[in-house]
Amino acid sequence: MYKKYYRHFLSHCPNLLHFACHSHHFWPDVSRAAHLRYWDDSARLADEKWELIFSEQIPKAQRYIAQQLKISHPEQIVFASNTHELIFRLFSCLPFIEGHKTRILTSDSEFYSARRQLLRLQELNPVEVAMIDSEPFYSFSDRFCRQLEKQNYHLVFLSRVFFNSGVHVPDWEKVLDAAYANGAIVAIDDYHGFFAIPIDLSAYQDKVYYLAGNYKYAQGGEGACFLYSPPNSRLRPVYTGWFADFAGLEKLPQRHVDYDDTGLRFAGATMDCTAIYRFNAVADWLKQINLDVAAIHAYVQQLQRVFIGQMERYNHPLINMGNLIHHNLRQHGHFFAFSMDSQQQAQNLRKGLRKQQVMTDARDNRLRFGFALYQDQADIEELFMRLANVKLPP
Ligand SMILES: Cc1ncc(COP(=O)(O)O)c(C=O)c1O
Repeated sequence: MYKKYYRHFLSHCPNLLHFACHSHHFWPDVSRAAHLRYWDDSARLADEKWELIFSEQIPKAQRYIAQQLKISHPEQIVFASNTHELIFRLFSCLPFIEGHKTRILTSDSEFYSARRQLLRLQELNPVEVAMIDSEPFYSFSDRFCRQLEKQNYHLVFLSRVFFNSGVHVPDWEKVLDAAYANGAIVAIDDYHGFFAIPIDLSAYQDKVYYLAGNYKYAQGGEGACFLYSPPNSRLRPVYTGWFADFAGLEKLPQRHVDYDDTGLRFAGATMDCTAIYRFNAVADWLKQINLDVAAIHAYVQQLQRVFIGQMERYNHPLINMGNLIHHNLRQHGHFFAFSMDSQQQAQNLRKGLRKQQVMTDARDNRLRFGFALYQDQADIEELFMRLANVKLPP
């Protein structure tokens, strides 16, 4: 039904079943022309391209994102090449003061960009990171909120959808309320929710920092991640680049550091904006064909139901309901994660599937299957036939 919009990617690998869309989504055809338009604008305008980028492309992307999040401050959205840069910029606002503990609350299921950085920060003496286990999922939010009642934190950092299970944090808004009431800086990593599961951040737009990017469900490839900061934010990142105070460029060199009043205060420096062009092209196209995130989500949920039906039929020793991490589709992101006995077993199955021209990915002992518009029911049926052909080591 939607494959016709992905001809370029699909035609390069006609026999491949791509089930790693949760990791890296295929790019729709419209993004190719946008990619080339960046090149042409660079050639046509040379140094003056930045004017076009800052006056048209970035504001357009900010408006699309603000619409998605249902927030009314598009100027509070700032772009960077990856979320890691933005995460670290946010972390650099924390008060690292000798003799005072900087306390951070998070989960044990945050993506490597945040987890690794948090663990490294913890090696600094004044930093203490508390990680709440995401499992059992049903009690996660209660346990997280209880911890917030016990202790004041400087930062709460949490995904809406866990990258290693696909589970949507239950009672999501209750957790946000408790984190805000705690007095902490509240940061949401929504890379697995943005453009996948509808969200309404309007009630939280003065309260939370929100991160996501283009590489997954927004379908525009790497290079355009963003941070939304509340309009009242006066945080002063230590890790700061010259884009964070454009207005200051007109002034004589200062001996103090000023920040823009908008989300630009979290900006870095010169970046390749090709991905922002691609993001806009994909958003234009979805608008044109009248496909919103709710409709994409419904399509993916339908594919997930087909997958479950096939799974029940095949009774595979590893890809079965018993190993599927979570069964409630109403609290689920756009991939399924299956728990294996070991990391090795997950890798063996991933490699076996790859030999059968099925692309998935594995994180630790979990094998992940992602769903997207460029798949249909026949692909899932074919996937299970190929899965049955995978020879696993005894
Ligand atoms: C939850 C989550 N956050 C962030 C990222 C990407 O991080 P970065 O932009 O730092 O590469 C991923 C990538 O898979 C992710 O799953």
